Amino acid sequence: MSEPLIRTVHMGKRYALPAGDLQALADVSVAIGEAEFIAIMGPSGSGKSTFMNVLGCLDVPSEGEYFLRGQSVRSMDVDQRAHLRNTLIGFVFQSYNLLPRLSAVENIGLPLVYAGVGVRERDRRSRELLAQVGLDRYAGFLPPQLSGGQQQRVAIARSLVNDATLLLADEPTGNLDSHSSDEILAIFERLNRERRLTIVLVTHEPDVAAHARRLIRFHDGRIVSDTPVDRAATIQRTVVA
Ligand SMILES: Nc1ncnc2c1ncn2[C@@H]1O[C@H](COP(=O)(O)OP(=O)(O)O)[C@@H](O)[C@H]1O
Ligand SMILES: [Mg+2]
Repeated sequence: MSEPLIRTVHMGKRYALPAGDLQALADVSVAIGEAEFIAIMGPSGSGKSTFMNVLGCLDVPSEGEYFLRGQSVRSMDVDQRAHLRNTLIGFVFQSYNLLPRLSAVENIGLPLVYAGVGVRERDRRSRELLAQVGLDRYAGFLPPQLSGGQQQRVAIARSLVNDATLLLADEPTGNLDSHSSDEILAIFERLNRERRLTIVLVTHEPDVAAHARRLIRFHDGRIVSDTPVDRAATIQRTVVA
C-alpha cells in the first residue's frame, strides 16, 4: 500500500500557558488520501483550527508524528516547512484576507510574486484560476467592489495559484449567505473532482459538511468519530456529551 498524502500518528499539540499546559490536540491518528473531501466538525475550542494549522505546517505537533507525503513534518526545519506550504498547500479562511488595493487578478497572483514568477506568467495563471472560479469578468475589480462570496472565490483562486494539492479551508462559508455558500461548495466539489484536489473543510453547518464524502468530528482535541458521509441523509446536529 502506498503512503497516504497525510498520516498522523498519536499526534498531540500542547500550548504552554501561564495557568498550565493546554492540550489542544490529543492522540490524533488519521490517514487522508489524495483527492479525499473531508469535513471537520466539533464544538468551538475542540481543536479544529489547531488541527488545520498543524496539517498546513503552520505549526508542529508536540507529541506523536505528522507525515506529509511520507515525510516527518516534525523533524523538518522552518525553511523545509515553508517550502511545503508554498508548493503543496492552499489555505482559505472565514475572512478572505485579500489586499483591498490590489485587483482580483493581482491578489490571486500575489503568492507568485513571492515565488519570483514574472508578471506575464503571473497574470496568465491568475486569469486562468479566476475563470475557474467563475469570475473572469472581474479581473480588474478591487475586493471592496466584490460581494463576500466573490471575494471568497478570489481567495480560493489565490490558494491554488501555486498548484496546491491540499486545500485547507477553515469555516470558509462562515460569513456567507446560503446562496454564496452553495456557490463556494460547488467550486470545492468541482476542484475535488476535476483537479483531484484534497480538501479538508472545517464547518459548523451540517448542510455544508454534507458536501464532503467523509466526516471527522472532534471533541476536546480528540477525534470522536470518522465516518463516510451519507449524502442522502442529513447530518444530525449531534452534541457529543
Ligand atoms: N496559539 C494558542 N495559544 C494557546 N492556546 C491556544 C492557541 N490556539 C488555540 N488554543 C486553544 O486550543 C484549544 C483549541 O482551539 P482551536 O483549535 O482554535 O479550536 P476550534 O477551532 O475547534 O474552535 C482552545 O482551548 C484554544 O483556546
Ligand atoms: Mg476554529
